[in-house]
Amino acid sequence: MEFGFFSNMKIKFFLRNIEKKFSPYKFYSFNPYFRYLFKVNLSFGLYFLYLFCANFYNFFLLIKKNRLTFFFQKNGFYKRNLKNNEFPFKLLEYLNADIEKKDRIPINCHLSNFQHQKNIALVDSQKHVYSIPNALMMELDQFIRKDNDLDNLIKFYFKSNYFICNLRMWRYLSDDKKKLKSEVKAHYDIFPHKTLKIMIYKGFFSINHAALDIIDQKTNKLIYSIKGKNPILLFDSNHLYHGAKFPLENRDTIEITLIPSIKIKHPLHGGFASGYPVNPFKECKKIY
Ligand SMILES: [Fe+2]
Repeated sequence: MEFGFFSNMKIKFFLRNIEKKFSPYKFYSFNPYFRYLFKVNLSFGLYFLYLFCANFYNFFLLIKKNRLTFFFQKNGFYKRNLKNNEFPFKLLEYLNADIEKKDRIPINCHLSNFQHQKNIALVDSQKHVYSIPNALMMELDQFIRKDNDLDNLIKFYFKSNYFICNLRMWRYLSDDKKKLKSEVKAHYDIFPHKTLKIMIYKGFFSINHAALDIIDQKTNKLIYSIKGKNPILLFDSNHLYHGAKFPLENRDTIEITLIPSIKIKHPLHGGFASGYPVNPFKECKKIY
């Protein structure tokens, strides 16, 4: 009996060590890559190689370990509230002006070699910006890199430098007339391994009307609600099950997709498509 008990303990200890080695992140309850590996997704395969190269190239990158990195390693997200004069308000002003313009030309995607929806989805609850000036993208890049906590957390998770792969902005419309169909139901994003998203929401949010909910998919229990005034959230949208209910009032939203980098530093794409380069080793050229 005793021998059996100790062997079971040894097996459990062995399995726990394997788990720690291959999955150091406690929030990895779901990993889309296993599913995609079986489907032989060439693009995701290339991203594994790209990540390996980025890690190797950035081997001596300075990354600090602190209470935020410890929290992120366990939970997969970081959140704070924007201060009054921070740069994202300039993006929100641009969003407000742009979506009010008449005769806007809807453009899916500005780049070649970029994964995107072939037809613009007829989402009735969101009004998107289709083109974002490069100067704003560069300012956003500086805003993230100068925020020591954000910059360090991204580098800590990627174990490499990074770049803004995509910037989107939209107004999520409230459903006060109860006629809209396209609510953002809870889901996992399907992006290449170790993609991070930064979400910024304009307005005040409470637990009952949060900007975003992070949910345990198995139990359907709420893990965390994004609340407070003008919240900014960094999270792994591949591994955290997340959703957003119709807002009480129209909600302006900014979504920034970040990807590990070997050498690229400049932002890549600003507009409707939320995607990534199909082949990360290939250049994306401007086509629209
Ligand atoms: Fe999502």
